[in-house]
Amino acid sequence: MTATLLGGIGELVTCDATLGDGSRLGLMRDAALVIEDGAVAWVGPSREAPAADRCLDAGGRCVVPGFVDSHTHLVFAGERSDEFAARMAGEPYTGGGIARTVEATRAASTGELRAGAAARLAEMHASGTTTVEIKSGYGLTVADEVRLLEVAGALTPETTFLGAHALPREYAHDRDGYLDLVCGPMLAACAPLARWADVFCDEGAFSEQEARRVLAAAAAAGLTPRLHGNQLAYGPGVRLAVEIGAASVDHCTYLTGEDVETLASSEVVATLLPGADFSTRAPYADARRLLDAGVTVALATDCNPGTSYVTSMPLMIALGVREMRMTVAEALWAATRGGAQALRRAEIGRLGLGAAADLTVLDCPSHVHLAYRPGTALVTATLRAGVTAYERAGAGLSR
Ligand code: NIG
Ligand code: FE
Repeated sequence: MTATLLGGIGELVTCDATLGDGSRLGLMRDAALVIEDGAVAWVGPSREAPAADRCLDAGGRCVVPGFVDSHTHLVFAGERSDEFAARMAGEPYTGGGIARTVEATRAASTGELRAGAAARLAEMHASGTTTVEIKSGYGLTVADEVRLLEVAGALTPETTFLGAHALPREYAHDRDGYLDLVCGPMLAACAPLARWADVFCDEGAFSEQEARRVLAAAAAAGLTPRLHGNQLAYGPGVRLAVEIGAASVDHCTYLTGEDVETLASSEVVATLLPGADFSTRAPYADARRLLDAGVTVALATDCNPGTSYVTSMPLMIALGVREMRMTVAEALWAATRGGAQALRRAEIGRLGLGAAADLTVLDCPSHVHLAYRPGTALVTATLRAGVTAYERAGAGLSR
């Protein structure tokens, strides 16, 4: 077994409150960690670091847990920059554009879908992401949803069946027929390829009753529910997510006081997607209100061609801080440990003993730079299970 020592860490963010300064981020200065078998085998002060087979030097940089992007729609074809431009000129977002991406995605070859998703995943690695959830939802036929989940499954174990993303045009006048398809043959074909099931439950999308039906069928097929809710309007998303024990309810842009209380009394994670609020010129979800009420908050990109063509978790952290009133520590925690909780994964999003060696080396002395220098490419290297997924040319971590 080869042990790799990553030393010379100026600031180590462990996201483990039992370590370092005892804060939620578990900060340690002048730290080192040892990686064995893809996991963290030792963590502590640099001067106490044990010998190892191989040594890497962070050169005084900051190391954080790799970002956990727990909500993306990475597999699609085409782009919709014209809609973005129209929104910036005053048009509202309605979800109607999903049909355009469905058309482009159906027309694309599997090779094209694979290449597009892989390119976006490479961008994510370059901005420090080590775990990504990927939803289907731009196929909306049995064969196309299967195709999307197969492409997604080659990139991540965190795959989500989102057959109820929109009503496809061939079912425009037959909602029940489409839901029969989703809950019947589509689910049967997709369930073996997915871990999670999701529904777009919102104004102009699927109703509470429809979402309940799809997620109940999905649960019976072994999938765990999560939900798009409260993005476009006040509505039933949060209530339903709590009622059915969803892992997460995502967007949460429009929440009543009762929604906040309901979330606070549950284990459901509120996943906030500032990229979508940015790109649809919506009000930003109020993370401060959720955090003050005791809700667990995650940040994710929602990467998709309609509402958030964004792969950068550092940008989500910066927006979370500036626009959603999070502290820097809260935003970084939400982008790592919070995402891990939204995916019910205990071994990622932190860098304590036994955690996955999923980590990001930042070319700065403190994690605060993630929000303090928005738009700056700070990532020197990204390691997944101890293996380099991205390294900036000339970074020279090896020695
Ligand atoms: O999370 N809200 C629903 N789905 C996506 C957007 C889909 C699209 O416009 O293509 C979202 O924002
Ligand atoms: Fe989404």
